[in-house]
Amino acid sequence: DELPRLLRDMPKCELHIHIEGSLEPELIFALAQRNGVALAYPSVEALRDAYAFTDLQSFLDIYYAGASVLLKEEDFFDMAMAYFRKAAADNVVHAELFFDPQTHTDRGVPFKTVIDGLTRASETAQRELGLSSALILCFLRHLSEEAALATLEEALPYRDQFIGVGLDSSERGHPPEKFARVFARCRELGLHLVAHAGEEGPAEYIETALDLLKVERIDHGVRCVEKPALVERLAAEQVPLTVCPLSNIKLCVFSSMDQHNIGALLEAGLKVTVNSDDPAYFGGYMNENFDAVFNGLPQLGPRHAYQLALNSIEASFASDEAKSAWV
Ligand code: ADE
Ligand code: ZN
Repeated sequence: DELPRLLRDMPKCELHIHIEGSLEPELIFALAQRNGVALAYPSVEALRDAYAFTDLQSFLDIYYAGASVLLKEEDFFDMAMAYFRKAAADNVVHAELFFDPQTHTDRGVPFKTVIDGLTRASETAQRELGLSSALILCFLRHLSEEAALATLEEALPYRDQFIGVGLDSSERGHPPEKFARVFARCRELGLHLVAHAGEEGPAEYIETALDLLKVERIDHGVRCVEKPALVERLAAEQVPLTVCPLSNIKLCVFSSMDQHNIGALLEAGLKVTVNSDDPAYFGGYMNENFDAVFNGLPQLGPRHAYQLALNSIEASFASDEAKSAWV
């Protein structure tokens, strides 16, 4: 069977990875030791055993606790380099990384420390691994729009070090319209715009993310199926959805992979992509997500694999020149 090899070897882009979600338990412990940070778990095994989530919030609580070991530029560099090595091994040719500056600046870590560490890793990955990458700054939606606007101001001196903004963290009760002003400002600045919508939140959040925030891609978006007219619109407008299969299972968005709708969305002509979201927490990087999808949904074959990889390249914010080198 050639399918496993195709899934592994085809060039692909990763468009939905929270770099703080790539922090493996071993690195959390190593950084805690290096920085003298106390952890609530006695061992790597005890920490990993705590990775049993019931919903998005139960994950976010432990994800923010894990990020508390990140203090120095070197920490952000080491975290991102570990991810880039995994991505390159999976034949990811280009990665667009989300980062959550508020998680760090609210602990007193300067914005510059965060973005300089990530930028230096990005440059090193290009040089040493031939992997291209870019950064997308995410606003935490459980915090206020005023806090997001303040974060944007803090980020502006580093405008050339990130290509866009996104919206993540607790979705329910924090609709896109809460961030209409900050997204309008980012649009004026020429930043790319994306938002998490329709992961745990309702299909309406996908519509308001598109219509009010004017995002170019929807992160997750799997709950679009609850509105047939929206599914038709997403297909007609070819709005990319950055779907995260293993994440959806671990956070109980679907009960098991054979229940996942990624195959149906792909068959309906939506511009669906496969991504890892928070690979250290959800049990796998890019190729483990591809394997899980194709094992769980046996109706999918090489034609679907090729389409998913092509979608990821087309939906990326890379230059047309770069894209044509990957297809
Ligand atoms: N932050 C990190 N991973 C996330 C997810 N899957 N949804 C919302 N916010 C996140
Ligand atoms: Zn996400």
